[in-house]
Amino acid sequence: MHTVDIIMKKREGHALSQEEIKYLIENYTLGKIPDYQISALLMAIYFKGMNDEEAKDLANAMAHSGDMIDLSSIEGIKVDKHSTGGVGDKVTLILGPLLASVGAKFAKMSGRGLGHTGGTIDKLESIPGYNVELKVEDFMKQVKDIGIAIVGQTGDVAPADKKLYALRDVTATVDIIPLIASSIMSKKLASGADAIVLDVKVGHGAFMKTLEEAEKLAKLMVEIGRLSGRKMTAILTGMDEPLGHKIGNGLEIYEAIETLHGKGPKDLVDVTVEIGAHLLGDANIEKDFNQAKILLHQALNDGRAYHKFIELVKVQGGDTNVIKQPELLLSKKLEYVYAKESGYIEDINALEMGKAAMRLGAGRETKEDQIYMEVGIDLHHKIGSKVEKGDVLATLYVRDKGIEEAKNLILNALTIGQHQKEVVLIKKTIK
Ligand code: URA
Repeated sequence: MHTVDIIMKKREGHALSQEEIKYLIENYTLGKIPDYQISALLMAIYFKGMNDEEAKDLANAMAHSGDMIDLSSIEGIKVDKHSTGGVGDKVTLILGPLLASVGAKFAKMSGRGLGHTGGTIDKLESIPGYNVELKVEDFMKQVKDIGIAIVGQTGDVAPADKKLYALRDVTATVDIIPLIASSIMSKKLASGADAIVLDVKVGHGAFMKTLEEAEKLAKLMVEIGRLSGRKMTAILTGMDEPLGHKIGNGLEIYEAIETLHGKGPKDLVDVTVEIGAHLLGDANIEKDFNQAKILLHQALNDGRAYHKFIELVKVQGGDTNVIKQPELLLSKKLEYVYAKESGYIEDINALEMGKAAMRLGAGRETKEDQIYMEVGIDLHHKIGSKVEKGDVLATLYVRDKGIEEAKNLILNALTIGQHQKEVVLIKKTIK
């Protein structure tokens, strides 16, 4: 097989065979095909697209380019979730302990944040001592022993995707549905869970800006997972405003703890319980969707989920004092943003809010940037709230940078008008 022939085939708009995709991925991972040829191929894919079969073959070839984590020695159905990335999305931190507290096995490898979206691993690292790097054996033992582990990518999971993603990033070929779907699903397939719920975010704070695009991506990922024998569900949820009220690493741990105490904001609780109820059904723990939701609300309200979170933090080496006194996670230096007019909050641009938190130091612009764990934004209002001129719209937890820029971004991100709008959070479910 010759790489140049395969590039030409795609350039002419033909579908690639499974063997051709396997050849490309195996040899690219080994360094036998240079970046410039794969760059040309990516651009050809960008313009000519890929059919579902090619996307499935690509996901599988990338999944098999490294370790395939085998969780079969752990009894029961192992569950996982994935979010395509949003602002204020701390669902994993709540969902994991919640599911484990009612008997599910939650085996999760999470990522770090880049750009305006946060990452679960960074958030967990705001808990002093929390170890995100477990060996595969220790990861599995922990899931067996306490029903939950949340770690960074363990072992050599989907190295081809790592290489390809870095190349896509610098060749303007990230935002194409078959490549996004195969990239996400390669890591999910390699991570070993039996049942997966995908939370596909849609709106101005998300990768997918329209419902139509989000649905296409969701359907393709569900199909890829199902063809590989996994139980799959995708929910499309709004990212028209940040999820919950708090944005920033320590602040999001703080809000997760409030939620685990049964005092979470409605939107955050709703998404968490919705995903959880699908997974409880898939894991044969509670097949009735409404009963599953009731069970999850009970475990949030009676302390079971909170105690499982404490257990998780303790086992992974974290300081549980900060979980008991979460204000220790927040900067003491505060700034405020005030409303310049009266009316209803009509829009909160999640992308701009994410950028504002990043300017304060909560996120990275490059992979090497240091992040400040204690900074971020507490939004006092959601879409539909009534505010008066002079009301505090947001409290900023700050350190030494980006304060004025963040204030301006927040003011511009909030639209105050005369219409009281309602947000539809869970827009569609794809099974
Ligand atoms: N997240 C991924 O893991 N891959 C993509 O291509 C896009 C988002």
